[in-house]
Amino acid sequence: MCGIVGYAGNNEAVPVLLDGLSKLEYRGYDSAGVCISGKDGIVVKKSKGRLSSLAEKIKSEGGTEGKVGIGHTRWATHGAPSDINSHPHRYGKVTVVHNGIIENYAELRSSLTKLGEKFSSETDTEVVAHLINKYYIDDPISAIACACGRIKGSYALGIIFDDIPDKIYATRCDSPLIVGIGDGENYIASDIPAILGRTRNYYLIEEGEIAEISKDGIRVCNFDGIPVTKEVQTAEWDIEAAEKGGYEHFMLKEIHEQPKTIKATVDPRMINSVEGILKDEIIDTSSIKRIKIVACGSAMHAGLLGKNAIERLARIPVDVYIASEFRYCNPIFEEGSIVIIISQSGETADSLSSLRLAKKKGIPTYAIVNVVGSSIAREADHVIYTWAGPEIAVATTKAYTAQVAVLYLLALRLANDKRTINKDEAVSIFNAFSSLPDHIEKTFSYTERMQKLASLNSNINNLFFIGRGQDYSLCHEGSLKLKEISYIHSEAYAAGELKHGTISLITDGVPVIAVITEKDVAEKTISNIKEVKTRGAFVILIADRNCVDEKNVSDICDELILLDSTAPLLMPIICAVLLQLYAYYTAVYRGCDVDKPRNLAKSVTVE
Ligand code: AGP
Repeated sequence: MCGIVGYAGNNEAVPVLLDGLSKLEYRGYDSAGVCISGKDGIVVKKSKGRLSSLAEKIKSEGGTEGKVGIGHTRWATHGAPSDINSHPHRYGKVTVVHNGIIENYAELRSSLTKLGEKFSSETDTEVVAHLINKYYIDDPISAIACACGRIKGSYALGIIFDDIPDKIYATRCDSPLIVGIGDGENYIASDIPAILGRTRNYYLIEEGEIAEISKDGIRVCNFDGIPVTKEVQTAEWDIEAAEKGGYEHFMLKEIHEQPKTIKATVDPRMINSVEGILKDEIIDTSSIKRIKIVACGSAMHAGLLGKNAIERLARIPVDVYIASEFRYCNPIFEEGSIVIIISQSGETADSLSSLRLAKKKGIPTYAIVNVVGSSIAREADHVIYTWAGPEIAVATTKAYTAQVAVLYLLALRLANDKRTINKDEAVSIFNAFSSLPDHIEKTFSYTERMQKLASLNSNINNLFFIGRGQDYSLCHEGSLKLKEISYIHSEAYAAGELKHGTISLITDGVPVIAVITEKDVAEKTISNIKEVKTRGAFVILIADRNCVDEKNVSDICDELILLDSTAPLLMPIICAVLLQLYAYYTAVYRGCDVDKPRNLAKSVTVE
């Protein structure tokens, strides 16, 4: 939800901090700030608005010379975006930057106010500075540990003490935090892209650990001050992968990466026969009797497609939950249940808490995650990585299709193990995976069509996506993509359900995007298309050409996009790319900030 960075080295800290924050703006960008420890003592500069506003302020005001510092880019949770609510927050001898939510901040603030302490901001974070300062005499580790002992909630903290000017301290609970290992310089960051330009080596800080960082070294200890030995992790990402690669937006780059990322995700799991699918990640499937998929947003939409596939092929009941609902609904776990958490970032608070709930109940947990070493990846019993690489655009694309591909592999493995499909069908689907990257590549030939459709519809206010079965599941993702980056209100609707009320909203020119990849229900969806067409809808039909007769559908829709067929199971992945392109170009035509849509953040690490 926010991004934090820190630097201690032989160079000026400000440029390093600003560069690191620029790589973390996807985590939130409504205000930013730095704290520098240098010849002028401790100097804090912070401002509402994007990082560029902070950079301007630093340039015009100066006074930020120093080789040690911490920085922050914010997604507001408590206290509106403003200069005073921006991080860092400072009290007494302590300055902090924070990613997360202090859930008991009101109670802490009240007790500290009663002790005569004055607060200047509306944020939850400010109580952390007050608390650490309250416990600080001459031992920073003890002060941090005592303060954290009173905090309920999530945090990744960067901390500077006035009288320890050459060191940064860091600790975490739930929110992500890494410590970068440099040559004569060291770092802290919320995520790898912030340090990738300077080092690939880092430590993952676990809960209950405190890191002390200086230019000469890194010391990690537990809350009792006992040293902890850490294993060096090495980021495999290349810098190029984290940049735009010549595309106008990260989102378009990541859409176009999907043939490669699907291949990277699927191929390593398809080396042998169907029996070998996910063999390293899922040892025994015989005890699996029911599956609960838990996720948020697009990850949850991937789960919907996973449900369609697993129930159809393996005949195992699947429940898909929105994580923020799951964690508070006192879920019922039947005998033989497993929980699968899907999360691109591996840090989504609701999904992480759902994972912990399942583990507490003794339910086997699996995680489908894109970020190696993320909290969800580390805490699940089993992790199945999507190898989509760094996804920078807030709107997920390649991670979503990689999640769906992993779920389809799981469905095939389960069906084969349980013998619910015959060998020929299993092999046919298995083989279809190998041609999936090529099918996706072919969808880019529709780019101009999608640009034209986007231009036709870019001034609309409402749009509907309709489909049945897996197509209805896909429509949820098509709708979210369009909403989150173009700000057009849209809704995914079961095609057969429209007539039960919502069809009253279909009037002249209202765009309806229909998807047909399920042959068994194609005629039914075509009837629903006719229902909306007679009421004036502008109909765009995206269909598997094996499911419809072109001459029968060309006169009931305004735009027809027919896709070459592959295994029906895999068609939603191919259609998803088209819907991503449609949303992308619509947002571009509307002049929206495609990679950083308003109000959003890439990883929602608060509930
Ligand atoms: C997707 O485009 C959105 N940015 C959002 O719905 C996202 O999928 C959701 O927040 C879940 O994130 P996660 O996969 O990192 O857990």
